[in-house]
Amino acid sequence: MDKIALEGGKPQREDFLVFGKPRIEEDEIEEVVKTLRSGWISTGPRVKEFEERFSEYVGIKNCIALNSCTAGLFLALFLAGIKGKDEVITTTLTFASSANVIEHCGAKPVFVDIKESDLNFDEDLIESKINENTKAIISVHMAGNSCNIEKISTIVKKYNLIWINDTAHAIETEWDGKKISHYGDFSSYSFYATKNITTAEGGMLVVKDDNLYARGRILSLHGISRDAWKRYSSEGFKHYEVVEPGFKYNMTDIQAALGIKQLEKIEKYWKIRNEIANMYIKKFSEVEEVEPIEYSFDRRRPSYHLFILKLIDNSISRDFMMDALKHENIGTGIHYLPLHMQRYYKEKYSLKEDNFPIATKIGKQIFSVPIGANITEKDVNDVVCAIKKIIYFAKKKVF
Ligand SMILES: Cc1ncc(COP(=O)(O)O)c(C=O)c1O
Repeated sequence: MDKIALEGGKPQREDFLVFGKPRIEEDEIEEVVKTLRSGWISTGPRVKEFEERFSEYVGIKNCIALNSCTAGLFLALFLAGIKGKDEVITTTLTFASSANVIEHCGAKPVFVDIKESDLNFDEDLIESKINENTKAIISVHMAGNSCNIEKISTIVKKYNLIWINDTAHAIETEWDGKKISHYGDFSSYSFYATKNITTAEGGMLVVKDDNLYARGRILSLHGISRDAWKRYSSEGFKHYEVVEPGFKYNMTDIQAALGIKQLEKIEKYWKIRNEIANMYIKKFSEVEEVEPIEYSFDRRRPSYHLFILKLIDNSISRDFMMDALKHENIGTGIHYLPLHMQRYYKEKYSLKEDNFPIATKIGKQIFSVPIGANITEKDVNDVVCAIKKIIYFAKKKVF
């Protein structure tokens, strides 16, 4: 076998395989240009159309397009009245924003350890974290694998908790044939550049309760009682009223134009992701040093947002693997370094690694390889060959 590129060998690929590169086609570019030429570039008719189409896709009526999923998570907590001594339970293995928003409300994030199989929080540990201050749960559906909806439903009913889904990874994800936003009180989706569909930056908050939805819409744009764009529309001039101090979280028509076109392709792109995942699963079944997280499902339809591998051979470090892959011209990511090990949370709440044994271990083993609507069979072969080559080099093993 060839020398690895890190040691001066020829890289697996000539061009760099970018991790999470979005697939943007000509019709999407045209739609954005059309919007730029239309005169409405901030929140307007395209945003409304995107909300309606997204609503049809998830099968829930109350959708508010925002400038990020983070904005949606915060707005959900704000609408739920979370503050002060309140505690909100979430997973330790997630992106910073799932917990940062809890801090922004002045409340306390309470982290739960994960399951080794699918990396979602261990639903069986949630009850042990509940006390009289517990007000809400933020369930993160990691990599687009649904958490156990039945178990969470039982807990939120028993303790009368608010349930917010962090669906940043889970646009196409289903449980019992229904999209995740069908469950819980709020769901916040992301259309960040690397997500399954993108608006460059953007999010969508789904709100179950009609009154909270109406308030959320007003809060998403300064707390003023009419959409800004209507003030200047052909409907005629009307004064607006500030009904409470709101936020500047609105999506623009430029973003929505891209989102509308992306949404048309979501199921086509899902099929590609599904095929890529199946290829990886088959090919990595022959490599005992790595193990994909669980992507098999009884009641769940995964979105295949990420393809996460665990490096289970202790003789090779994850960071070495990622560095070596970069030299092979293959981009990777880590999803995630657990929050109980991040300086701010660790120090503020005196969190101990021993209290999160699975996430502590897994957080050092995982890395994500490229999956997406842009990825080809050749890309998959390059990733697998490069990983085998690096393992061979590290262990002098013959495949
Ligand atoms: C699990 C999770 N939650 C929240 C977010 C935040 O999404 P956004 O960048 O749209 O605010 C991300 C983004 O990567 C994420 O992965």
